[in-house]
Amino acid sequence: MKAININEFGGTEVLKLVEIERPIPAADEILIKVFASGVNLVDCGIRNGGNDILRPFLKLPLTLGCDAAGIITEIGSEVKNFKIGDQVYGCPNFPGNGSYAEYCAAKANQFALKPKNITFNEAAGVPLAALVAWAGLFELGELKAGQQVFIQGASGGIGSFAVQFAKSKGAFVIASASTGNVDFLKQIGADEVIDYKTQNFNELLREIDLVFDASSLRDNNERLKAISVLKNGGIFVSVNVDFPFNEKVNEALAKRNIKGKMVAGQKHENLAEIAKLIEEGKVTVIVSKVYPIAQVAEAHEESIKGHVRGKLVLEIIKED
Ligand SMILES: NC(=O)c1ccc[n+]([C@@H]2O[C@H](COP(=O)([O-])OP(=O)(O)OC[C@H]3O[C@@H](n4cnc5c(N)ncnc54)[C@H](OP(=O)(O)O)[C@@H]3O)[C@@H](O)[C@H]2O)c1
Repeated sequence: MKAININEFGGTEVLKLVEIERPIPAADEILIKVFASGVNLVDCGIRNGGNDILRPFLKLPLTLGCDAAGIITEIGSEVKNFKIGDQVYGCPNFPGNGSYAEYCAAKANQFALKPKNITFNEAAGVPLAALVAWAGLFELGELKAGQQVFIQGASGGIGSFAVQFAKSKGAFVIASASTGNVDFLKQIGADEVIDYKTQNFNELLREIDLVFDASSLRDNNERLKAISVLKNGGIFVSVNVDFPFNEKVNEALAKRNIKGKMVAGQKHENLAEIAKLIEEGKVTVIVSKVYPIAQVAEAHEESIKGHVRGKLVLEIIKED
């Protein structure tokens, strides 16, 4: 089968389109014929050798890819919740051999039935970003109907899901991104939009229940500003787990009894509820560009910029 592998860590030149053996699913695994894979910043990070958290888990050669959408072609003897032919989406084996490949074997519990009303390309844009958004808002962020949430990086993969999830659960959503994404954020349902290029959010916002920083920016001074707009006892959640809170951030959190948290790990069981929201039309998957598998390097170059609107997708097999 065709796959995008790396045999060494480095720039986009280490991405190789190779022929490798099709994997065989273990008893608790499914084999998925992968039609599309999401492209995530973390794929670029892994390609480069990973961060302190991921590095110990990375083994070469490695097939990249954290999001898969496809059809089950084989099931392990212990798998009871799927059958051959099911259309599924999920996050296979993170951070092991992933979805930039025509077939992927992964634990069945890392997958759910794909939303019926979207294509494989769209479905591949969902799992990782949506699971991080879900965990950040509802599990770590404890967001409830009627609360005010400020979402930074709201136009990106994680952010665009976060805006729609928070709205669907009845929160008041204030979202920020750069000037070119202001109208986009209104279209996906933000109640108020802040243009971080021309406005200082810390002069405009007060008494926020939850700040969810879903931006690609790693800056503790920006975190201090975000904490200043929270109510006492509020919650600050960052997606950038590889960039720890510094002493000043920890002091600012403690001083006003604000909980500071980082999103780490995904709970795959949330994929079924996310699929339901998509099928009900409450959440739209925004795919800004689909790249054929041979253009994986271009996809990575775009992802690394940290300004993707919605998701980038790698098409592995063209859907009829
Ligand atoms: N914890 C986890 O498990 C996990 C998993 C996946 C990803 N991540 C991390 O989450 C972050 C977001 O990932 P993503 O895939 O959603 O990225 P993305 O699609 O590239 O989106 C990045 C977002 O950040 C905004 N942004 C960029 N520069 C900014 C700045 N200087 N100030 C404020 N906002 C800025 C962008 O808005 P504009 O384009 O309008 O500037 C965009 O909304 C990344 O850093 C990624 O590494 C964490």
